[in-house]
Amino acid sequence: MSTLTPPPSTHGPIVLRAEDVWKSYDDGAIAVLKGIDFTATAGETVALCGPSGCGKSTLLHLFGGLDEPERGRIFVNNIEVNRQRDLLRLLRHEVGFVFQLHNLIPDLTLEENCLIPSVAAGTDRRVARRRLHELTERTGLTHRLGQRIQKLSGGERQRTALCRALMNRPKILLADEPTGSLDEGTSAIVFQLLLDVAATEGVTLLMATHDRGLADRCDRLLEMHDGRIYEPAPV
Ligand SMILES: Nc1ncnc2c1ncn2[C@@H]1O[C@H](COP(=O)(O)OP(=O)(O)O)[C@@H](O)[C@H]1O
Ligand SMILES: [Mg+2]
Repeated sequence: MSTLTPPPSTHGPIVLRAEDVWKSYDDGAIAVLKGIDFTATAGETVALCGPSGCGKSTLLHLFGGLDEPERGRIFVNNIEVNRQRDLLRLLRHEVGFVFQLHNLIPDLTLEENCLIPSVAAGTDRRVARRRLHELTERTGLTHRLGQRIQKLSGGERQRTALCRALMNRPKILLADEPTGSLDEGTSAIVFQLLLDVAATEGVTLLMATHDRGLADRCDRLLEMHDGRIYEPAPV
């Protein structure tokens, strides 16, 4: 069953919407997304599941404005995402992104990495530092603020990436296999933190994962295959 409307259990406004989205690579030789229809409402946690190569990252990149669909439309908070209009504002303030391999700058400290998005957004430095402190307290990283990324453990790096993604107080968090590089125990801890922070900050989470255990703890589980999204009926 593909979904055009959110399930009846959710009531908030729609914050993410894909309308008949198509995307291929190599001039159409690799057809990845073949008519994706999807919505998520404010505050939901949604797991996007499916085997490696099915197009999860591709879809997240479209929602993050990192790439464009060939056909169809992508909306974030009712703003159509495209490369020209409103994109920087959208990325800086409304959407945070956590990648599988953290994408932090290894030679910079935790603090320096996390302040980059606030510098880009033009946030007052004191305000940014206060926000960072709040996030590092929440994620147990305050004692690591001055540490360079290369000295941090895998779990600490992913928690740092989470802090960085939340610096500008986005209401939407896109997470691409955010615990995919971690061992099972660390993955469980980081994922729980992700859910807790999303809940306390009222963040809508769209997370790509192939870990069913993690997916089951989200409000909704979507399956991607053959370039489309299916939502199994809740049991
Ligand atoms: N930039 C690219 N150029 C060519 N092919 C790509 C590119 N990005 C992804 N692909 C291909 O598109 C398909 C979907 O990739 P991806 O969205 O990364 O899947 P997933 O995140 O589910 O593993 C794969 O076959 C992958 O090889
Ligand atoms: Mg991927």
